[in-house]
Amino acid sequence: MVYLQKCCLLLNLVYLSLITGDQFTCHCNDGDCNQLTGACSNGCLPGWSGQSCQTECPDGSYGYNCSGICDNRHCLAPSSCDKITGACDNGCLPGWRLHNCSQECVSGFYGERCSLRCDDRNCRNYCKCDTVHGSCNGSCLPGYVGLDCRHREYYGGDDDGGGGEGTTTPRPSWWMTSTDAAKIGIFGGVMLIVIICGIALEIHAKGIWCIQPPENKA
Ligand SMILES: *[C@@H]1O[C@H](CO)[C@@H](O)[C@H](O)[C@H]1NC(C)=O
Ligand SMILES: *[C@@H]1O[C@H](CO)[C@@H](O)[C@H](O)[C@H]1NC(C)=O
Ligand SMILES: *[C@@H]1O[C@H](CO)[C@@H](O)[C@H](O)[C@H]1NC(C)=O
Repeated sequence: MVYLQKCCLLLNLVYLSLITGDQFTCHCNDGDCNQLTGACSNGCLPGWSGQSCQTECPDGSYGYNCSGICDNRHCLAPSSCDKITGACDNGCLPGWRLHNCSQECVSGFYGERCSLRCDDRNCRNYCKCDTVHGSCNGSCLPGYVGLDCRHREYYGGDDDGGGGEGTTTPRPSWWMTSTDAAKIGIFGGVMLIVIICGIALEIHAKGIWCIQPPENKA
């Protein structure tokens, strides 16, 4: 009798786990799978494969039908490869997008996170805009430099050739470069924080600032 009870209990457990566990072991694309066999009529969710979508994608692949190849992604740095998303840990190399870094920038954009506009370049001639560098093929409008001719030519160093053709005016020698300004700004900011913290600590130490806790009404 005891054995029979135990047996029933066991069968019940197995049955329950089959029903409830099904939600978690079914990896069908449309969520509709055969309750008993787990067979999927509409393909598998990303990251899964096999007739009943019970097999994880093999190492090195990801996504729908395990069709994504981890090595074909264009991750910024060596990255793990999630079997479902194929996401790159640290973003994409310039020129690539989506979390799996497997799609080039859309037309008209290039560079890091595809955030640069081809229209903002200053190429001398019409130039096809490659998705990585947006290169102007070595020829910028006067006054601009860089592969993509986005940067203003800078006068003011030893290499100043006189600034004849440039549209920017030469800067006097006392002119701060933007990095100088940034350094001063950061230094000033830090000093300000230190001073404010000092004052706050002082006030706190003297108890001026503290809100007295309400008396416990016993
Ligand atoms: C996955 O494979 C199935 C069967 O070969 C196909 O019908 C389906 O379109 C594929 N899905 C994707 C997203 O490639
Ligand atoms: C990369 O991610 C996009 C967006 O989620 C997806 O449509 C595409 O299928 C993925 N690429 C591969 C190869 O799985
Ligand atoms: C870049 O310049 C070279 C030589 O002037 C030319 O042959 C080539 O077609 C140019 N490439 C592009 C993308 O404009």
